[in-house]
Amino acid sequence: MTEQTTAPTTLPTAPGFLWGASTAAHQIEGGNVNSDWWAKEHVAGTLCAESSGDAVDSYHRYPEDIRLLADAGLNAYRFSVEWARIEPAQGEVSRAQLAHYRRMIDACLEAGVTPVVTLLHFTLPRWFAEQGGWFAPDAIDTYARYVETVTAILDDVRHVVTINEPNITSMMLGASRRTNLDAAGLAAPDEAASELQATAHRRAVEILHGLGHVQAGWTVANQVFQAAPGAEEARDAYAYPREDFFLEVARGDDFVGVQSYLRTIIGTDGEPVPFPDDVERTLTGWEYYPQALGEALEHTRRVTGGVPMIVTENGIATADDARRIDYTRGALEGMARAIAAGCRVDGYLHWSLLDNYEWMSGFAPTFGLVAVDRTTFERTPKPSLAWLGKVARTGELPA
Ligand code: NOJ
Repeated sequence: MTEQTTAPTTLPTAPGFLWGASTAAHQIEGGNVNSDWWAKEHVAGTLCAESSGDAVDSYHRYPEDIRLLADAGLNAYRFSVEWARIEPAQGEVSRAQLAHYRRMIDACLEAGVTPVVTLLHFTLPRWFAEQGGWFAPDAIDTYARYVETVTAILDDVRHVVTINEPNITSMMLGASRRTNLDAAGLAAPDEAASELQATAHRRAVEILHGLGHVQAGWTVANQVFQAAPGAEEARDAYAYPREDFFLEVARGDDFVGVQSYLRTIIGTDGEPVPFPDDVERTLTGWEYYPQALGEALEHTRRVTGGVPMIVTENGIATADDARRIDYTRGALEGMARAIAAGCRVDGYLHWSLLDNYEWMSGFAPTFGLVAVDRTTFERTPKPSLAWLGKVARTGELPA
């Protein structure tokens, strides 16, 4: 159960602090047909539970989505721009798609919402994946050219994420060196992919800094690796290539994105310990463990040496919105303790604004603060949206 504090929890408030929600293009837009994930979803014998299809049609409905977020009192929206749309064929830039994403940025700014723009959130253009993705001979230059292309629409954008969860990509590529798509599960990370992404990230940061007004960082899946009794060394060895390497890369950056959902306990054999059957599980099968966020922030501070942090994702897949509020309250209590202990945290962006396409698991695990009817795409805010908005305005955690 969530640890209870007796002292009232005080959190920073909007507008100084980024309070908002996150999404990613492929998971919400629909019709992302030029991407490698679309190909994977449609291949015979696909491991995906279903196709992303129209997703939740946010490609067309983003004004409503941004409005819902702003009306709730939130002041930040993290979303990704889709490389496969912006550059559908190598070297061929779609001005119309760039203009589309610029309109999204403008919609945020007009609503008083700070856009946090992710350049790459797992999906690659199909042509790039076919060349080998990160293992293509000129992958870094190819990615750098894409980043330069996107800079054309980044006026007034202060926060840019270069690559989302490169540590998860490296683990997926550990299962297959061919594309980002062929992984059945999370294998040992591919070291070459880790180094390549680190190099790509540094190039992107350089390009973004050239604009003068952008703070750049990448986001790391922080998995809170805990040690079973006597397994500290085994835990550290397990965690380094899966997480701490990526946090160290973030040392020189403006911010690091912390993405926290759960914990993993490592045993003396160097393997994750399965959690007991009686533990509460969420719709993704993960342990219900809201304490993860505070621990993730403390760990990230230790490894990065105090680089400013933004919680770029934290949330729970559940059909029970009251449980979502409980989880978020527990997570935010942990964040408040981490801040009180000296962690520099500049924002909290909940995953996710909308119920959406959870990759191989399809649409069943619902992470949203807003429900979406799968047939009409009608949006219905859940109580958790107003709850989070109230936290943003008051800095207190209502019951
Ligand atoms: C991390 C990923 O960035 C996001 O795409 C995913 O949906 C959430 N975690 C939940 O699994």
